[in-house]
Amino acid sequence: MDLTAQQLLRDIELLSRAFLESESDTPILPRISPEQLREEIEFSIPERGGDHDEVMRRLVDIFDRTPRTATNRFFNQLFGGRDPSATVAEVLSALANNSMYTFKAAGPHILIERELIRHMGEMMGFANADGVFAPGGSLSNLTAALVARDHALEGAGERGLEGSTLAMYTSEESHYSIPKAAAIIGIGRNNVRYIPADELGRMRPDALAEAIEQDLSDGIIPAMVNATAGTTVPGAFDPIREIADVTRPHGVWLHVDGAYGGSIVLSENHRQLLDGSELADSIAWDAHKMMGVPLTCSVVLFRERGRAAASLSEHAEYLFQQDDDDLNPGTRSMQCGRRNDAIKLWAAWQRNGDEGYAARIDHLFDLTAHARAIVENDERLELSCEPMSVNVCFEVRDKPSDLICHRLDESGRLKVGYGVVKGRRVIRIVFVNADLTTADVDQAFEAILETAEEMPKTNNAVEVASRCAVC
Ligand SMILES: Cc1ncc(COP(=O)(O)O)c(C=O)c1O
Repeated sequence: MDLTAQQLLRDIELLSRAFLESESDTPILPRISPEQLREEIEFSIPERGGDHDEVMRRLVDIFDRTPRTATNRFFNQLFGGRDPSATVAEVLSALANNSMYTFKAAGPHILIERELIRHMGEMMGFANADGVFAPGGSLSNLTAALVARDHALEGAGERGLEGSTLAMYTSEESHYSIPKAAAIIGIGRNNVRYIPADELGRMRPDALAEAIEQDLSDGIIPAMVNATAGTTVPGAFDPIREIADVTRPHGVWLHVDGAYGGSIVLSENHRQLLDGSELADSIAWDAHKMMGVPLTCSVVLFRERGRAAASLSEHAEYLFQQDDDDLNPGTRSMQCGRRNDAIKLWAAWQRNGDEGYAARIDHLFDLTAHARAIVENDERLELSCEPMSVNVCFEVRDKPSDLICHRLDESGRLKVGYGVVKGRRVIRIVFVNADLTTADVDQAFEAILETAEEMPKTNNAVEVASRCAVC
């Protein structure tokens, strides 16, 4: 091993140790303002390069001030924790630095990606799944939307929309990546129909049927229905089977946005939430959310092989020089150079196995039940909607949900966020980190309640522009 490699090893070990020790001493940091950060750290790019050891010291300074997301105080977004096998694989993939477009450039990692797609597809009920890893659920949804567009309007990839109007359908509770995809692929945000949701936050199939019928009679082509499996705020699951009953007679592409809740299929006890997934044409599934794998790790699955390649394959003699297209996933990806997101998931799955992952999901539901019981048994708290999965939305009665979250962040007690449910601003606490215990949940609620006491009285009712076209 040459000197550079030895130095690399020494620095990875030293800096990782410094970060992990700092994280363990301070599992959450008080908010550091951008102004304070600019004062404490020199961010500018120098004209002349400097000393490597000095760069290492500055990296320590930066990571000392970096929000902790793997600890028991982080409930803010839909990811958390740290799978050890996945983390080592992630570091190694940076060292190996392969690009996942061809077998020639990535070797065994291509076979690993294929095996994950096969296994994940099978879990969703796809006997012969196709797919590709994409950098996040938004990009997985976008890939599916593009393929759906080309299914609805043959030749759109070559000739554009040629004056046709296409529409996409998604629930009013769905993620913003859906209208963004509509904007990117030329369908347009105004042609996204927001279908009303029921009490639990699930898309109403009767309203969907009405919206599709209306568009058909107006000469508009229904391109894709997006059923969300795990909505971002209430954590609701749209009824996929009933939605398929609406889409199939019209031949409309059915996509399932399981970026958040797709992982629930891992648990025998809870997978009925995704009942009907085998009827979907495509499914997005983020492993970086409930599966504890470092960001980003997302896959878009297709029920039929060849669909993604039909939309995304380009001729490039300088790149695709050998091996079957099946071994060259660059032929079905939006990207050219692509980082290796498969190896970390494969490593985590080797350690957990299907059984370990099932137990992980069950544990997340147990934590959710514990949190729900806390809310229901404390008269200062009020449940905002019935939790269908691992999100608990609630208010501290008469106290401002947003200010409570901001104060908790400033003081460095807890990172938790808020959203809107049924016209009210509510605190959303999520259970995606399986290292958490019920004691961590108790501690989180203690912090929320103590902070709420310092807050003025308020009404959390909000005026929000409804996304829903029908309600
Ligand atoms: C339902 C849903 N879809 C898509 C996404 C986007 O996923 P990503 O952040 O991986 O792009 C999210 C993110 O939270 C989500 O909740």
